[in-house]
Amino acid sequence: MLEVRGIAAAYGQHRALQGISLHVAPGEVVVMLGANGAGKTTLLKALAGLVKTLPGTEIVLGGVALHGLPAHERVEAGLALVPEGRGIFGELTVRENLEMGAFPKRARAHRARNFERVVELFPRLKERLGQAVRTMSGGEQQMVAIGRALMSQPTALLLDEPSLGLSPLMTGELFKALATIRSGDVSVLLVEQNARKSLAIADRGYLLEIGQVAGEGSARALMDDPAVQRAYLGL
Ligand SMILES: Nc1ncnc2c1ncn2[C@@H]1O[C@H](COP(=O)(O)OP(=O)(O)O)[C@@H](O)[C@H]1O
Ligand SMILES: [Mg+2]
Repeated sequence: MLEVRGIAAAYGQHRALQGISLHVAPGEVVVMLGANGAGKTTLLKALAGLVKTLPGTEIVLGGVALHGLPAHERVEAGLALVPEGRGIFGELTVRENLEMGAFPKRARAHRARNFERVVELFPRLKERLGQAVRTMSGGEQQMVAIGRALMSQPTALLLDEPSLGLSPLMTGELFKALATIRSGDVSVLLVEQNARKSLAIADRGYLLEIGQVAGEGSARALMDDPAVQRAYLGL
């Protein structure tokens, strides 16, 4: 279980996160919807330890307090981030990128098994293991980024707008993979502007507005909410 209480962060005088609380159970996909600038990326970076949080922030994963730990120790505790822009190495091959994901101590012994799981999840990658990642399509690169995160054997997987710039078809394929990942008891936290596709696979969702939670509910209830339809579904 990923439990977050009162997470707050600032860039200078600008309070980008104003005390957000959320939880993601094992086997759950939770989507955080928010417009451009709402604070989605800041939230994920703050969870991963890449943006400093303010006193009072609590981040707990599987009973372990993460808020005092540096980023690499949060990875060892089971947190993996697929960052905006993917953060993969274009000159390296698919296989090399995936193997870098198994660097954390928690993952080294399980490297072969995790590798098998990743290529089973993304058969397109299996056919392209020796290919340089920069020569692949945006969707395939996103699969490499997610695959690399899974190689660290996470119990919580955080994804920053994985559908950005992808075709509807590719987005559908990726989101289907997230539904499979969830069934392995991983807590999946997805931040997205694409409300329609993400609510279709999510169990629950939160609405983020100017660094605050402005609403939450089951994916079904959010989809049926007229205010959500106006703001996020373009209806
Ligand atoms: N490195 C930064 N320095 C200063 N302000 C930032 C920085 N990154 C983001 N911000 C500001 O914080 C707010 C939230 O940004 P961000 O988390 O990137 O939102 P989102 O991912 O939802 O688009 C915005 O007002 C943005 O301008
Ligand atoms: Mg962002």
